[in-house]
Amino acid sequence: KFIFNFIDDGRWHYIVDGLKVTLEVTFFAVLLGIALGVIIAIIRSTYDKNKSSMRGFSKFIVVLLNFICKIYLTVIRGTPVVVQLMIMYFIVLVSSTNKVLVAVLAFGFNSAAYVAEIFRSGIMSIDEGQFEAGRSLGFNYVQTMRYIIIPQAFKNVLPALANEFIVLLKETSVAGYVGLADLTKGGDIIRSRTFQAFMPLIGVAVIYLVMVMFFTWLVGILERRLRDSER
Ligand code: ARG
Repeated sequence: KFIFNFIDDGRWHYIVDGLKVTLEVTFFAVLLGIALGVIIAIIRSTYDKNKSSMRGFSKFIVVLLNFICKIYLTVIRGTPVVVQLMIMYFIVLVSSTNKVLVAVLAFGFNSAAYVAEIFRSGIMSIDEGQFEAGRSLGFNYVQTMRYIIIPQAFKNVLPALANEFIVLLKETSVAGYVGLADLTKGGDIIRSRTFQAFMPLIGVAVIYLVMVMFFTWLVGILERRLRDSER
């Protein structure tokens, strides 16, 4: 019976509330990551595709933006996400009371760097002929990107983006470092109050595992749908 005493005492609330926070942070961080990541990917591939044909001011802008994006990717991917989270909490937002927002921003800005590379490979996977097709329709570069390249690239990387959601779901488990009561922190609070480590921690692990298996299954269905719509 003592094994279940965190259920008897209503401590399972820490798990349920923590789970809500985990899902909330993951969901909004993925949205932010995709929005920012797509922008970075477009800037980077615009530079790659036009660096030799551009002149003057527009070249200056694209080169500058590309440089900023490159620094961003290097710094974000070169430092641990926990450190970025703590910097966001203790330095940037100076111990903001809205810890969910802090976590969304930290994980979102982190995810953007990985999404940018996913999306850039998606753009590069589109055949050069598609650009020429756009040109022959009288589209300029922006229109070709907007109406021909991006939609196809987006479809190609959808499974990878869904995977990013799964990665972030687990990644947010470090949110307890700034005192955000996510699922992991919830389990750990119960562990420290009941002096029982087994049930809370194994329970938390099982909850993550079930969610990851569920979303992996969904991504599988998505992939099959996309393949079928290819014909
Ligand atoms: N765990 C790594 C870190 O501490 C990040 C892993 C990749 N993250 C991602 N959103 N794909 O920086």
